[in-house]
Amino acid sequence: MQDFAGQVAFITGGASGAGLGQAKVFGRAGCKVVIADIRQAAIDKALTELRAEAIEVHGIELDITDRAAYAAAADEVERIHGQAPTLLFNTAGVNNFGPIENTTYGDFDWLIGVNLGGVVNGMMTFVPRMIDSGKPCHVVTVASLGGFTGSALAGPYSAAKAAVVNLMEGYRQGLEKYGIGVSVVCPANIKSNIAEATLTRSAQYGETGYVEGPEAIASLNSIYQHGMEPEVLAAHVMQGIRDNALYIIPYPEVKDMLAGHFAQIVDAIPPLDTDPEGAQKRTEALMEWARGGAKVFTPGA
Ligand SMILES: NC(=O)c1ccc[n+]([C@@H]2O[C@H](COP(=O)([O-])OP(=O)(O)OC[C@H]3O[C@@H](n4cnc5c(N)ncnc54)[C@H](O)[C@@H]3O)[C@@H](O)[C@H]2O)c1
Repeated sequence: MQDFAGQVAFITGGASGAGLGQAKVFGRAGCKVVIADIRQAAIDKALTELRAEAIEVHGIELDITDRAAYAAAADEVERIHGQAPTLLFNTAGVNNFGPIENTTYGDFDWLIGVNLGGVVNGMMTFVPRMIDSGKPCHVVTVASLGGFTGSALAGPYSAAKAAVVNLMEGYRQGLEKYGIGVSVVCPANIKSNIAEATLTRSAQYGETGYVEGPEAIASLNSIYQHGMEPEVLAAHVMQGIRDNALYIIPYPEVKDMLAGHFAQIVDAIPPLDTDPEGAQKRTEALMEWARGGAKVFTPGA
C-alpha cells in the first residue's frame, strides 16, 4: 500500500501513546480513522485532539479481550464507513513488572489475554472481512523488542509478545495471496502512558504478584519519558507499510543485542558434518511432504 488517503484505519489502543501517534500520522495522510480503546475518557480527549487537526475520526469503547464486543465494533465500522477497514493496527497492549516466580494466574490471564488474545481477536474479527472485501489491505501489529528475549521481570508480557511476532510471521505468509500485507513492530522504548497500564487491569483478574502503585509507575516513567515520540514511530510504521516490511524495528541501539541473541541460538546448532545422513534423510522427508502430502492442509491449492 502506497496511498493512505481514503483508507479506513482501525487502531486499537488509539487513545494513547503509540496508537494515538498512528491516529495522528495516518489521519493527516487522509485515512478515516477509528480509535478503539478500553478507556472512554481517554478516547474523548483523543477525539478532541484529532478533530482539532480536522482528522476524520470515530471512537469506540472496546476491550479487545471481549470477542462479542470486538465483532460489534467491526459492524459499527462497516455501518459508518460502508466497508471493512483496509488498515488494522493491533496496537493496544499492557504491561507490569515483578519477579517471574511471583506471577499469579491473574497476571498471566491479563497480560497474555490483552497482549496476545487481543491480537488474536483482532485477526479473527477483521481478516475474514478484509479477504471478503477483495481490497488491498495491511495489518500492523505492535509487539515489542521484549518479544525476542525472555525476561525475569516481565515474563508473561515477553512471552505474549514473542507469540505475537511468531503469529504475524505466519499471517504474513498466509495472507500474501489475498493482497493483505502484514508487519510487526518491535519497539524498544516509546514515550507513552504504558507505566499506568495496571490502572486498566479489571478486578476479574484478581490478585497480582507484581509491584503496582505510584512508586512502580514513577520508576517506569523514568524510562518511558525518554522513549521515541509516538508520531516518529508512526512515521516509521508508514514507511514500513510502503516497503511492505515484515519487521519494523527503528531502534539502532538494539542491533548488537539482537545479533548476539540470535548468534547464541545459531551457536547451539551443531555443524552439518556431525550427522550428515540423518540431516539429509530428515530434509528430504520434509521436501517430499511439501511437494505432495502437505496439499491436504491447503484445500483448493
Ligand atoms: N512504551 C513502550 O516503551 C513500549 C515498548 C515496546 C512495545 N510497546 C507496545 O506498544 C503498544 C502501545 O503501548 P503504549 O506504549 O503506547 O502504551 P499506552 O498505555 O500509552 O497505550 C496503550 C493503550 O491501550 C489501551 N488498552 C489497554 N488495554 C486495552 C484493552 N483490553 N482493550 C482496548 N484497549 C486497551 C490503553 O487504554 C491505552 O490507551 C503496546 O502493545 C505495548 O506493549 C510499548
